Amino acid sequence: MAALIFFLLLSTAGVSLSVSSSPASNPGRFLKSRSLLRPSAAPQQYFELDRPVPFNVIRPSCARRILRHSFANTINSPPYTTPYFPPRNSSKCAAPWSRAILEISASCRGNQYDRISALWLGGAELIRTSTAEPTADGVVWRVRKDVSRYSSLLSQHGLNVTMMLENIVNDEYTGVYHVKATIFFYKGTDINAPIGLPDQKINQKLASGNLELGHGNDNTLGLGAWDFYGPPADLIIPIASSGNKGFWYRIESESDTHSMQISIPRNTKRAVLELYVSYHGNDEFWYSNPPNSYIRTNNLTTGRGNGAYREVFIAIDGRFVGSEVPFPVVFTGGVNPLFWEPVVAIGAFNLPSYDIDLTPMLGFLLDGKQHEFSIGVTHGISYWLVDANLHLWVDPYAKIVVAKPVLYDVPALSVVRSSQFKQLDGLFMVEAKRKVRVAGWIISDAGNLTVMIVNKYSLRSSIQFQASGTYKLVKQKIKAKRETRIVNGCGAIVARSVFKGKYPLSVITKSLPGLEQDTNMLITNVSHAQDEKFSSGEFSYSVRNGQDSDGWMLVKDHEVLKGRANTTQIYSYRDSMFCYFRSVAASDGILVGDYSTFLCPSSS
Ligand SMILES: *[C@@H]1O[C@H](CO)[C@@H](O)[C@H](O)[C@H]1NC(C)=O
Ligand SMILES: *[C@@H]1O[C@H](CO)[C@@H](O)[C@H](O)[C@H]1NC(C)=O
Ligand SMILES: *[C@@H]1O[C@H](CO)[C@@H](O)[C@H](O)[C@H]1NC(C)=O
Ligand SMILES: *[C@@H]1O[C@H](CO)[C@@H](O)[C@H](O)[C@H]1NC(C)=O
Ligand SMILES: *[C@@H]1O[C@H](CO)[C@@H](O)[C@H](O)[C@H]1NC(C)=O
Ligand SMILES: *[C@@H]1O[C@H](CO)[C@@H](O)[C@H](O)[C@H]1NC(C)=O
Repeated sequence: MAALIFFLLLSTAGVSLSVSSSPASNPGRFLKSRSLLRPSAAPQQYFELDRPVPFNVIRPSCARRILRHSFANTINSPPYTTPYFPPRNSSKCAAPWSRAILEISASCRGNQYDRISALWLGGAELIRTSTAEPTADGVVWRVRKDVSRYSSLLSQHGLNVTMMLENIVNDEYTGVYHVKATIFFYKGTDINAPIGLPDQKINQKLASGNLELGHGNDNTLGLGAWDFYGPPADLIIPIASSGNKGFWYRIESESDTHSMQISIPRNTKRAVLELYVSYHGNDEFWYSNPPNSYIRTNNLTTGRGNGAYREVFIAIDGRFVGSEVPFPVVFTGGVNPLFWEPVVAIGAFNLPSYDIDLTPMLGFLLDGKQHEFSIGVTHGISYWLVDANLHLWVDPYAKIVVAKPVLYDVPALSVVRSSQFKQLDGLFMVEAKRKVRVAGWIISDAGNLTVMIVNKYSLRSSIQFQASGTYKLVKQKIKAKRETRIVNGCGAIVARSVFKGKYPLSVITKSLPGLEQDTNMLITNVSHAQDEKFSSGEFSYSVRNGQDSDGWMLVKDHEVLKGRANTTQIYSYRDSMFCYFRSVAASDGILVGDYSTFLCPSSS
């Protein structure tokens, strides 16, 4: 029994089962030691660099607390569930809203690992988030996300809000996560009443009521198709589990696909599937996993293998319809926890979701019958937490929308791998490419429109081991391009949008024996970036977000005894009207530089 509990603890906490002294299992997941006390006595504020939702400075029409809960020893328990009440129809805050912003604020004190968490409304995921690792003095943080695209759920009665945050509290792990979630609703008129805005340009923009910042979901790495197509979906169908362990599917292996039978309204004119993804256990650092041959030949005990390519795919009735290589989010205990205080890694508090436009496939789905939607992870190992929301727009004037797929060009994934190693040293490379072209016409209130989508991405990865495997260099670059064209009955292009993303990552870990017994000195470096451009007609935006960290730490098992770390980050956003720039620098957990401006650079 004791052994079983021990195993459960390790596996569900996502702690690698291998010994940390095996350099092959770096980068790893670590816990800050109690001895790492900072001189401050007040809880430290953690944050993720992001574009400020302009509403940060605008008074909402109303705010509703939707959840308040303390997540203590919640492991193996059902998620926390509470009824949701939308603003009353008669109130000044009734739907429709111009925007809805979800805010999660959390605090924790003590000793604790980072934990994964998600919040669902009516079983549809609204945010995937992870926690900061606390200290004895405590940590606090807050994350805001534009959830306007979920308006059809936010206005519904009789739904539950559900939050899962699987945590372990015992003599060793003392941190309890105290969480509050609030939704701020904004009506159109509020937008004309900015308070204390820092820049003239924003004021003008706000005054003109033209606050379309483009993409409803701030952190969607996908096409940003929402603004492109107009208002939020009429209906959202979760593709998710039954919910007694959270609504996500837990995927343990490549063959572990999860499916759900769904029938969609026959007057659906547009469908977008939004995917939520996070990776844990032996795949938390999937981008750094060597092939199994390396692990076997060297008799390593690590379970972290299967090479460094993963994609999450969606199939309908067994037919592949789309996939995504997820952006590599590093949680706050990852690689070197000292890197992520107080600025967490890109996406750690607000993991990206990914949109796959299924509109060209509607011809297959509008027969009123049930269809099987499946989700799986190519080459995945234990474990992935994945679910999806199917956003549907219906034609109010038609009982039945007529649609037909005209192009379905889905060549097999191309993966080229090379592997060479001698004992623990070697070089492993992966080059993967995926291209999907689909098109279909749909006759709705907008006429007969043909929607054509080209989705391309590539991943290049190299993993290098040197010095008997004690030095490891991981490099990965993901590039994505999606193009959507809408053509009318006369063959004229009525809309076109292009999204391009580049996501480079490099992780270095160098392991040396520590002076004291059973300790290791780890020299660590992480650089990662999110570089995106989107354009659709007149509107365009670009984001450049890059973070570089370096430092060292002395570890015993998974505990960080001491270390030094520096992190710098530069975030810049610009669109046709609005700019935002912020650069921060943190040294040994203290913010040593923080500069931000809403002024657009005068050059260019
Ligand atoms: C409020 O509006 C919703 C949607 O329009 C409707 O279903 C519901 O019955 C209304 N409730 C009341 C109390 O009027
Ligand atoms: C909401 O949660 C309660 C309590 O867990 C449950 O009895 C009820 O069926 C749930 N409602 C819905 C719509 O899922
Ligand atoms: C791995 O184990 C096998 C069998 O015990 C042994 O023959 C081989 O030499 C070992 N290889 C290494 C690299 O230790
Ligand atoms: C809709 O438009 C497409 C392409 O222009 C055409 O091939 C198709 O026949 C049209 N559908 C109908 C029902 O007219
Ligand atoms: C580690 O990162 C720092 C700063 O980001 C850089 O100057 C240094 O060269 C990096 N070290 C290695 C070994 O790449
Ligand atoms: C962090 O940056 C400071 C100032 O540039 C430098 O003196 C220090 O050596 C750096 N620390 C590490 C661990 O790289």
